[in-house]
Amino acid sequence: MAITFEQVNFSYGAGTTLAQSVLHDITVDMPTGKVTAIVGQTGSGKSTLIQHINGLLKPTSGQIRIDDFELTASTKEKELVNLRQKVGIVFQFPENQLFANTVLEDVMYAPLNFGETKEAAKSDAARALKRVGVSEDLWGKSPFELSGGQMRRVAMAGTLASNPSVVVMDEPAAGLDPKGQAELLSIVLELKNLGKTIIFISHQMDHVVAVADQVVVMNEGRVVAKETPRQLFNRELSWFQTMKLDLPKAGQLAEKLKENGVVLSRRPLDLTELAELINQEIGHE
Ligand SMILES: Nc1ncnc2c1ncn2[C@@H]1O[C@H](COP(=O)(O)OP(=O)(O)OP(=O)(O)O)[C@@H](O)[C@H]1O
Ligand SMILES: [Mg+2]
Repeated sequence: MAITFEQVNFSYGAGTTLAQSVLHDITVDMPTGKVTAIVGQTGSGKSTLIQHINGLLKPTSGQIRIDDFELTASTKEKELVNLRQKVGIVFQFPENQLFANTVLEDVMYAPLNFGETKEAAKSDAARALKRVGVSEDLWGKSPFELSGGQMRRVAMAGTLASNPSVVVMDEPAAGLDPKGQAELLSIVLELKNLGKTIIFISHQMDHVVAVADQVVVMNEGRVVAKETPRQLFNRELSWFQTMKLDLPKAGQLAEKLKENGVVLSRRPLDLTELAELINQEIGHE
């Protein structure tokens, strides 16, 4: 499912004296079957933006097209049921939303809510739990007995159980240890391989490099760039400073080398590329 924002503006508390205008003239598309990363400093509007994709928030003006569905200020709540089944959002720290007595029941909640039989919900939940690597011996346990990383996976399975074609993840790796983060990134790539459209918010540029086909950069409620990681991370250093964005680790190291007079032919995206470029530079290709 392709997603297109057209001249979207959004204010919290629109029409009240406390109205706060947060998104300004957003026009951007997120293609089917691709991973779109959204980055930008804190408060730039990333979480606000993504909540428009399943109609949790509605634009104050402009429209969002999700396949053939059009979301505008006047879209009614009852028109959103189908959309919510197609667009799954994994919120930040989703484990805070776990509630059921067992892992399996928690993951079955959404499919049951969308009207499936108990049997069908169970098989959807089992598929989703396997997909995120939660082993079967944990399914009967209370979600609150699990480790942080396991809880995160169960919460993700809860979103995946209704088999959404669009999966939106708001900082899914936040707070996980390095192993948990690496596993999370491979889950993202597996979901992409299943043909899902993925929206991935992150503050970690190495994660963006690892999974993104395109990167949308937000600043003060506007989209200021939309390009491939290669194009983005080749921009001038001063641009990243203005946007308060980091470079990927390899890019940071390359900048350190530059300070010492070692200038590489381009800015590397990861450590493998950094090593290749250094080898070229010292003539050991
Ligand atoms: N429920 C709300 N009511 C009023 N203002 C809000 C609400 N949620 C967010 N805001 C404001 O909207 C702006 C954008 O917030 P948002 O949470 O979308 O940013 P973000 O890019 O996701 O930031 P972060 O990286 O910290 O998660 C901020 O100024 C924030 O204070
Ligand atoms: Mg946010």
